[in-house]
Amino acid sequence: MCGIIGYTGKGDAPGIMLDALELLEYRGYDSAGIALLNEGKTQIVKCAGRVKDLRTLCAEGKPVGHCGIGHTRWATHGGVCDENAHPHRFGNVTLIHNGIIENYRELIDKYHLEGQLASETDSEVVAAVLQHFYQGDPYSAIRRTVLKLKGTFALAIMFDDQPDQIFAVRNVSPIVAAVTGDGAILSSDVAAIVPFTSDYFVMPEFHVVCLKPDGVEMFDLSGDKAEIEWQKVDWDVSRSGKAGYPFYMEKEIMEQPEVIRETILPRIKDGMPDFSEEGIPDHMLADCKRICVIACGTAMHAGLVGKSLIQAMIGIHVDVVMASEFMYNDPVVDKNTLVIAISQSGETIDTLEALKFARKCGSPSISIVNVKGASIARASEHVIYTCAGPEIAVASTKAYTTQLAVLYLITARMAMARGIWQEQQTRAYINELLRVPEVLERVLSTKEEIHRLADAVLNAHDVFMIGRGLDYSILLEGSLKLKEVSYIHSEAYASGELKHGTIALITEDTPVIAVVTQEKLKSKELSNIREVQSRGARVVLLIKESETLDEGEQWSCVYRLPKMDDPFMVMPASVVLQLIAYYVSLDKGLDVDKPRNLAKVVTVE
Ligand code: M6R
Repeated sequence: MCGIIGYTGKGDAPGIMLDALELLEYRGYDSAGIALLNEGKTQIVKCAGRVKDLRTLCAEGKPVGHCGIGHTRWATHGGVCDENAHPHRFGNVTLIHNGIIENYRELIDKYHLEGQLASETDSEVVAAVLQHFYQGDPYSAIRRTVLKLKGTFALAIMFDDQPDQIFAVRNVSPIVAAVTGDGAILSSDVAAIVPFTSDYFVMPEFHVVCLKPDGVEMFDLSGDKAEIEWQKVDWDVSRSGKAGYPFYMEKEIMEQPEVIRETILPRIKDGMPDFSEEGIPDHMLADCKRICVIACGTAMHAGLVGKSLIQAMIGIHVDVVMASEFMYNDPVVDKNTLVIAISQSGETIDTLEALKFARKCGSPSISIVNVKGASIARASEHVIYTCAGPEIAVASTKAYTTQLAVLYLITARMAMARGIWQEQQTRAYINELLRVPEVLERVLSTKEEIHRLADAVLNAHDVFMIGRGLDYSILLEGSLKLKEVSYIHSEAYASGELKHGTIALITEDTPVIAVVTQEKLKSKELSNIREVQSRGARVVLLIKESETLDEGEQWSCVYRLPKMDDPFMVMPASVVLQLIAYYVSLDKGLDVDKPRNLAKVVTVE
């Protein structure tokens, strides 16, 4: 959470930072601000609101300079107001912060800061402690300050008397840095660096980086110079931008066939699943006695689909645990438990902490991550990267379906490694997986029809989504999508469970979306649909094109899904639900890509 940018060099720092903040706004959009260090003076422009509001302020105030830091905020400590916006300044120190300083109250008392702070933030306290220790040596002040902090932090700092220099230090919260053609840059995300260069490095924790116009230096906390490990961005830069779509969410939904191809093709050799590039040994998949998937939000919903696939094909027990709850349920993981951590950003702190705990317990681990070099990827034994490319809309779409694609591959390789499937079965499964992109293209070509379906829920106050088994897992994700972008209260409910209480909420004003894709569940699901229809609910039904429906029934809203083998029906059904959520949000005139209260990358617990 919170976007961080820092630039020093020959370029126009305010312009560079404002453009970068627009790219980083998905990390938080409660407020935005920049600080410029120019001839020993620091000028700060900041405000509650979006980067476009900051741009307007900058156009009026015309800040100038070649060295600066900038921030987009997702509020944790202190409300959304101008004072709490970053950068924060105390004495000669100006900084921006991502993370949470847990002991900020103790620091206020220890350094007698009560009454001296301009904001309610934990971040300003860090600036004050830095100022307390600063006697002309930034490294010493940073070192001494960091040793006093408890919590997570990514800090970019400027000192008035250190011209053209930006210092950075971090614990848990990420910072990446790079050298540009005319200077040096740091950011919370690779996305802000991609426009300048494809070479960057991930700052190690508890190291101090100094950005200067002619390069970057790094030191460990004892003051020794440290080696920088450079990496290459392998995102297709041409994928940046909205490509003519009004919102990133639509663009990202439309990209799914292509990014699924990119995710699966390199991992299919001679028609068989292959993780040799990732170095995942077959014994890791063959020997585990159980699997524990840890993830949050959409990634956790992908895990639930993975659980159904693996339990059905392999017959071993799979737990899917919300990473945010993992530590509070006395987790039982050991060397026989394969831990699979799933995360688009690779920075979700709950997932990261749960993974680290599982590794301490001796669990072998694989992560499924979209952002190269992210913390979760680095913290796991093996990583399988999804090739979704940059996902900018806060609502996750293409990351989800690429995570699913990887889970199909894992299932197939595991079935092979355990001798459950022979070559022929594995090939048939992989062939069906290879059909997914083309099937999704078919669904996407009917987006106007799906747009019309969305009308059924557009004005609803509450929506229920019902199904069983794999269909229920699909709906959990579909419901999250609708909630987050349309603000309609939506609940995915296991349809067999409705009659145990929740059916009391079904009226003619409660549209119900039902998904029926699994042959073995069809008759029971249709019965549950009739139960809600009998209570007046209008039902939007997503069902395989091959199914016949009773002519006598009232089916006003039916979408025919292209037929795939049952385990793969998740893919077309999910895309329809993504589009329904998108069109509802669009037709309500909402900010589809930046729903209220949310941030793309959740780096606070
Ligand atoms: O980056 P991650 O995949 O770890 O993020 C997990 C969730 O925060 C994320 O999926 C969130 O639920 C999305 N906004 C859902 O669209």
